[in-house]
Amino acid sequence: MLVSGAGTNLQAILDSEIESLRVVISDVPDATALQRAAQAGIPTEVVPFTSTRSAFTDQICESAARHGAEALVLAGFMRVLAPEAIKRYPHRILNIHPSLLPAFPGVDAVSQALSYGVTVTGVTVHFVDEKVDHGPIIAQRAVPVLPGDDEESLHARIQKVEHDLYPRVVAAFLRGDVFVENGKVVLR
Ligand code: GRF
Repeated sequence: MLVSGAGTNLQAILDSEIESLRVVISDVPDATALQRAAQAGIPTEVVPFTSTRSAFTDQICESAARHGAEALVLAGFMRVLAPEAIKRYPHRILNIHPSLLPAFPGVDAVSQALSYGVTVTGVTVHFVDEKVDHGPIIAQRAVPVLPGDDEESLHARIQKVEHDLYPRVVAAFLRGDVFVENGKVVLR
């Protein structure tokens, strides 16, 4: 798994029945996610972004390969991988995003939803392609925006849904029940 921050989605996956996590890699050395992984007995690695996106991506892929990972699961990973990663793991990189894509891509999805005044936003799990927060959509869930919501309250409601949805999708993917056929996602 690739992480950069709090790692609550990682925790949800650790708490689920998924047992095939090979390594948790972070670009941020003091990410809480690393402590969660260590506590669960999962190997951790820190790969800081130092020079170029391509060199960084190479290091991430090498680290994943060293640990025998055959797919990458992004959860709050704040870097964009170079196209080399997508070629190396075709339709084998998953990401979770706190909106109903293609609405509100980017780091400020929750505040965008609030400033647009939408009454429904949500969660998207998708395969990663060359563009940011883009690629074949695997699963989505709607989350209501309630009167009086601020970024914190709305993100908390969204995260509750993330923590239920992501472990289910990752487990299905690992069972071979999520794949792309003729450009469309099949979810069994
Ligand atoms: C989540 O809301 C996820 O959708 C977004 O970043 C956040 C990560 O949270 N990509 P956490 O680190 O899993 O707690």
